[in-house]
Amino acid sequence: MGKVSVSLLSSDFAHLADSCKMINQTNAWSIHLDIMDGVFVPNISYGFPFIEAVSRYSKKPLDAHLMTVAPSRYYQRYRDLGINWLTVHWETCPHLNRDLQEIRRLGMKSGIAVNPATPVSHLEQAVHYADLVLIMSVNPGFGGQVFIPESLEKISELKEMRTRKDLDFLIQVDGGINDTNASELYKHGADILVAGNCVFQAEDPAAAIEAII
Ligand code: DX5
Ligand code: ZN
Repeated sequence: MGKVSVSLLSSDFAHLADSCKMINQTNAWSIHLDIMDGVFVPNISYGFPFIEAVSRYSKKPLDAHLMTVAPSRYYQRYRDLGINWLTVHWETCPHLNRDLQEIRRLGMKSGIAVNPATPVSHLEQAVHYADLVLIMSVNPGFGGQVFIPESLEKISELKEMRTRKDLDFLIQVDGGINDTNASELYKHGADILVAGNCVFQAEDPAAAIEAII
């Protein structure tokens, strides 16, 4: 049993309000917003006007995953648009602790994301400033990719770090999650699973969400 953050990336953007209303009626923990700039990742997703539209219809907390270079230019803007949890990539922030402190100062929860090739040990000095750590279980940029099995070990390692340091950040996992691997991910220590493709490709998206909570 755990929490699910539903990624709108694989949803039909022509029916955004309906997707938000569907999620509102489930036990999903939050709505996950994948912001891609075409620089840090080889894809462009959506930006501020999209977030504004989601904000209008969502009754769930908004969890933004920034796959953008120099993200600090817009922290305040994300806050003003109603983002509650703001996650930045370790790979994009040379002054990560400052970024995390700034996100908290603005009144949001701070998150750090790490690519599959980035070891968890790189977070030793930053986790003190994080409310959430996101382990990417695919290389970011696209929905519908296959889960990378080595991610399991990283989740366990991060959980061990949290215990050792007596911290309470949440562990989020993102990419290739479905009803086959969800329970194993929770067992390894995931608190929140991000799900996009397995929800919006399902015949009954609401049931697909409940199936992995
Ligand atoms: C990938 C994104 C994910 C993605 C998850 O770059 O960060 O949030 O949309 O989607 P699925 O569940 O399709 O792997
Ligand atoms: Zn994401």
